[in-house]
Amino acid sequence: MLRTHTCGELRLTNANTTATLTGWVQTIRDKGGVLWIDLRDRYGITQLLLEDGQTPPELFAIARSLGREFVLKATGTVIERKSKNPNIPTGDIELKVSALDVLNPAKLPPFLIEDETDGGDDLRMKYRYLDLRRNPVRRSLELRHRMAQQTRVYMDGQDFIEVETPVLIKSTPEGARDFVVPSRMNPGEFYALPQSPQTFKQLLMVSGFDRYYQIVKCFRDEDLRADRQPEFTQIDCEMSFVEQEDILNMFEGLIRHLFKAVKGIDMAEVPRMTYADAMRLYGSDKPDTRFDMQFVELKGTFDTVDMTSGKGFGVFDSAEMVIGINAPGCAHYTRKQMDELTDWIRRPQIGGKGLIYARVNEDGSIKSSVDKFYSEEDLKGWAAHFRQAGVPVKPGDLLLIMSGDAAKVRKQLSELRLEMGSRLGLRDPNVFSTLWVLDFPLLEYGEEDQRWFAMHHPFTSPKPEDLPLLDTDLGSVRANAYDLVINGTEVGGGSIRIFNRDLQARMFSILGFSDEEAKAQFGFLMDAFEFGAPPHGGIAFGFDRLCSLFGGADSIRDFIAFPKNNSGRDVMIDSPSVISDKQLDELKIKTVEK
Ligand code: AMO
Repeated sequence: MLRTHTCGELRLTNANTTATLTGWVQTIRDKGGVLWIDLRDRYGITQLLLEDGQTPPELFAIARSLGREFVLKATGTVIERKSKNPNIPTGDIELKVSALDVLNPAKLPPFLIEDETDGGDDLRMKYRYLDLRRNPVRRSLELRHRMAQQTRVYMDGQDFIEVETPVLIKSTPEGARDFVVPSRMNPGEFYALPQSPQTFKQLLMVSGFDRYYQIVKCFRDEDLRADRQPEFTQIDCEMSFVEQEDILNMFEGLIRHLFKAVKGIDMAEVPRMTYADAMRLYGSDKPDTRFDMQFVELKGTFDTVDMTSGKGFGVFDSAEMVIGINAPGCAHYTRKQMDELTDWIRRPQIGGKGLIYARVNEDGSIKSSVDKFYSEEDLKGWAAHFRQAGVPVKPGDLLLIMSGDAAKVRKQLSELRLEMGSRLGLRDPNVFSTLWVLDFPLLEYGEEDQRWFAMHHPFTSPKPEDLPLLDTDLGSVRANAYDLVINGTEVGGGSIRIFNRDLQARMFSILGFSDEEAKAQFGFLMDAFEFGAPPHGGIAFGFDRLCSLFGGADSIRDFIAFPKNNSGRDVMIDSPSVISDKQLDELKIKTVEK
């Protein structure tokens, strides 16, 4: 190595020894007779000292020619600092320089390489290799590394073996859009990049591998958001001879191991909730359970009570559902704040029509924005109904009520609940609340396509007790499917699989595949089921999401070394890009006018 130590290593115990450091110039402070350089590498920062009368003058000349991010090699004596810096581990010492080499000069970086940078998103993405020099981004990748290491420790300890599955596979119509790759050797034909290794891991079960996992890249051509990238990583897992309970226990074990090993947190048992309850209480299949604020229906579908109709308020009378939450301690909200909140739910992203509120005053009286229609008695009835539903309502609280079409209003109120949770400081990123959501519906109806879709994927098994419903009521069939939710983020999902050819064929038929289409797309899997397929099931975790949650961040981007931007572009290497006519010719692809 060109160095004897890293920039994070030297301490007072090293005083009076000689050391050689390498790294990047963070800052230079030139006081004339004394000059300090902060030298930075992955491990920390060490202060270099040049002093008049002590340091050879030519080194001063070199030092004065340096700029930020120059790459240096410095040799010198470790000495105790006069004014110590308690904020960094090397803050007690400095290196009194006796030799200084510029290993490489650097252009002025386009943004500050500091914890708080002045670089905007686009600039930082273009120069991602510089952004990666910054502590917060580097730390995020170090966290990712530890998560991967500890995942392997746990999985190996449980006898899982890591098997790599192919990346050039076959396009299938279900799920998100595929990324496709043209095949030169088979003109006019395309591979697809895997959205997940789902069918391969099931085939590995047929092969008898029993416990498989893989930390694996997956590709989905879908609209991007903070928690979605076109290529992302899963911890993909599958087990044979298991029931749902076995999977839940095994992977609850993984999550608890990760919390303990990476964050030092003893995570309690993961609570469980059915999909139906999650929708009823939170209007979401991935509720943020760091705080309560559960839904209470004043008129609805789960509850037969109707506390709002017949009082002359047309909006509620005509609504399928009237539903509310209690924002604790928010009765003091001013008219202006209420208007602002109403505007917030009316934004196109939320799509709410309006917001009704009822303030519970300190003296217990209740005032609402619909006093014209509802007497204080009525309003007290609402509050009592909240309490009956297990939601405490106290003086000083504010009931926020929305109405409309059941599915829509639940979604809108769910957004409002999250917003209120944030405003009330109830969503601390350093607090972790886990939840298994169970018993998802097997199918959902797509109005646009006028057909049934698999809610998880077509390989998910219906609950055995719901099998008869496949003939009578498809929408009510529940699946042995489960999601792991942490702080309102779906970090993983899986299911017990179909392992019987006839049932699998039936599923494809329900999903609108003809026998021929099913055979062409998934014949290999159905064939395999005839050669002794064991009962099996599994799960996949969104590894990037898990890392960003552990890192207390909203976006997964900084936990990916080289992410894509919101348009799916890598602005650093400028991809996607056009390819040459020669390449297109070879691939037998016609040129597209841009
Ligand atoms: P699913 O589609 O639910 O299941 O994906 C599993 C987990 O992957 C994460 N995830 C994503 N993360 C980042 N960017 C994306 N675009 C993205 N899409 C999904 C989520 C999600 O919970 N084969 C099944 C698993 C199984 O049944 O075993 C599957 O892929 O955290």
